[in-house]
Amino acid sequence: MIILLVGTGAREHALARALSLDPAVTQLHAAPGNPGIADVATLHGVDATNPVAVASLASQLKADLVVVGPEAPLVAGVADAVRATGIPVFGPSGQAAMLEGSKAFAKEVMAAANVPTAEPRVCTTTAQLEEAFDAFGAPHVVKDDGLAAGKGVVVTSDRAEALAHGEAILAAGGVVVVEDFLDGPEVSLFCLCDGTTVVPLQPAQDFKRAYDADAGPNTGGMGAYSPLPWAPEGLVAEVVRDVAQPTVDEMARRGTPFIGVLYCGLALTSKGTRVVEFNARFGDPETQVVLARLATPLAGVLMAAAQGRLAEIDPLEWRDDAAVTVVVAAENYPADPRKGDPITGIDEAEQVETVHVLHAGTALDADGTLLSNGGRVLSVTALGATLTEARERAYAGVDRIVLPGSHHRRDIAAKAAEEA
Ligand code: GLY
Repeated sequence: MIILLVGTGAREHALARALSLDPAVTQLHAAPGNPGIADVATLHGVDATNPVAVASLASQLKADLVVVGPEAPLVAGVADAVRATGIPVFGPSGQAAMLEGSKAFAKEVMAAANVPTAEPRVCTTTAQLEEAFDAFGAPHVVKDDGLAAGKGVVVTSDRAEALAHGEAILAAGGVVVVEDFLDGPEVSLFCLCDGTTVVPLQPAQDFKRAYDADAGPNTGGMGAYSPLPWAPEGLVAEVVRDVAQPTVDEMARRGTPFIGVLYCGLALTSKGTRVVEFNARFGDPETQVVLARLATPLAGVLMAAAQGRLAEIDPLEWRDDAAVTVVVAAENYPADPRKGDPITGIDEAEQVETVHVLHAGTALDADGTLLSNGGRVLSVTALGATLTEARERAYAGVDRIVLPGSHHRRDIAAKAAEEA
C-alpha cells in the first residue's frame, strides 16, 4: 500500500511511525513532514493546506490512501480535492470538518443530535460578552469560534482577562463562543468513523496548561498518557452511544458524512459526561500514546474507514502496556516561542528502553544540524508495564535531551500513576 500522509507535527510523526511498522505499507510519503518523519517516509515540499497541490501529489505518487493529520488542511478542503481524484482519504470533507472549524456549528449539530454539552452563547459584541459572563458566572470559558491553532480558548476566573480575550477575537473580525464551565476531569476519546460506523480507540488524557499543577497559559498540550485507570467502566461505550454515533448519524443525515477521526474532548462532570469540544482529527499529543499502545496494524484500519468498511474489521487489539508522552517546548512557548536553538541528545534518549522521540517543531539547517522550529519541539514517548514505569522511562529520555531554554512539565501522568 502506498500512503501519503499530510502534516508536519509530532502527531504526524506518530502516525508515520505506526504506518511504517505496518507490513502492508510498501511506500510512505509525507507532505511536508519534518526531519523526524524523514526517517520513515519520503518527504515532499508541498503546502499541506493547498488542496490542488496535495491532490496532484497523491495522483503522481499513485497513492492508495491519503491520511490528513491537522485541521487546517481539512478545513481548507484537502480531503475533498483528493477524494475527487478517486483516491481514498482518511479525513473529513471541508464541510464535515466544520465540527472543528466552527464551535457554533458543532454546538448546533450537538443540539440536533441531543449530545450532552455545555450551554453556549454566540457573541458578536462586547455587550453580549458581558451578558454571557453575567449569565454563567466564573470561571469564564471564552472560545474563538474558528480555528486558532490552540490559542483560541481561555478559561479564567479573571473577568477582565476573559473580556480582553473575547474583545481581541471580535477585533480580529471573529465570533466568540462563551460557555458554561464544565467541572471534572477531561478525557480525549478518538473515534474512527467511515461516515456510518464508529470504532473507538482507547481514551487518553492531555495536559493543556503550560506548567506543573495545571498552572500557566493554555497550550496545544504538554503531555498525555493512556490508559486512564481512574476512568469509569463503560465510559467508551457510553461516549460512542451518546456522543459519537448520534453525531455521525446527524452528519450523514445532513449529507455531509464524517469520515476520519471524531475527537471527542469530554469532561466527566458531576452531572455526567459532557462534550467540551469536537475536533475533526487525531489529538496532539494524545495520538502519541494511543498509537504506541495500538497493536493492530494501522494502515488497514484507516483504509477501511476511508472506504466505508469499518463494520467489517476485526476488533482492535491493544498492548497491555501503559504509555506516557512528555512534550519538550521551546523557550517562551506558548506566547512567542524562540526558534533556531540546537537540539541534541535524541539518540541518547532513545537508548532508554521503549523511548521514542517524535519530532514536532524541528528543522535541519544547511549543515544538517537539528534546530528547534516551533513551540512544541519534541514528544518523548515511552511504554511501561505500569504508568509509573512508562513515566520513569519517558522522563529518563527527556533528561537526556538538550535544547537551550526549553521547558516541559514534570507531572505528566503523576497523579494517575500514584492512584493506579
Ligand atoms: N491535545 C489537544 C488537541 O489536539 O487539540
